Amino acid sequence: MYIRIIIGVLVAAFIAIQFRTVERTNPPVYGSFNQPAEVKEIFQRACYDCHSNETKWPFYSYVAPFSWLVVKDVNEGRDELNFSNWERTSSTRKAKKMKEIWEEVDEGEMPLWYYLPLHPEAKLSEQEKDIIRKWSRGML
Ligand code: HEC
Repeated sequence: MYIRIIIGVLVAAFIAIQFRTVERTNPPVYGSFNQPAEVKEIFQRACYDCHSNETKWPFYSYVAPFSWLVVKDVNEGRDELNFSNWERTSSTRKAKKMKEIWEEVDEGEMPLWYYLPLHPEAKLSEQEKDIIRKWSRGML
């Protein structure tokens, strides 16, 4: 029966890839996002897993190949925007990031769509988007 061979190969491959481990880090927080609580609360809920050093690593981040994807997203996300360094960022970069944040949220690009089914609490309401819009324009 070929099916048993195929399943056997798949199981062996799944076990084998578990040995290629990736590092799930949470570096120290040096410039915690010190902004209005209503704004911070939204970002903590919807963005911090990929854009801070306070990532809550989900169970699937311990299972390859999902672990590779999650770690890649978090590393790339932190490079682009890291709320844990916010208060140590230059005002030029802050202004740029505030503009980008609103663009991403307005266009529905962030949070990443495939994050939402497993984190429904990260879906932003119109009211929450409005808070982000005001904050990004310096109105809060
Ligand atoms: C599941 C992980 C994940 C979540 C959750 C997430 N992001 Fe991102 N974000 C990324 C990754 C990965 C990148 C870099 C690649 C890209 O631009 O798509 C990024 C890039 C960005 C950028 C830079 C985009 C540019 O201009 O190039 C901004 C701004 C951003 N995210 C804002 C947010 C905000 C605001 C939230 C919450 C509302 C959020 N992200 C939630 C993963 C995430």
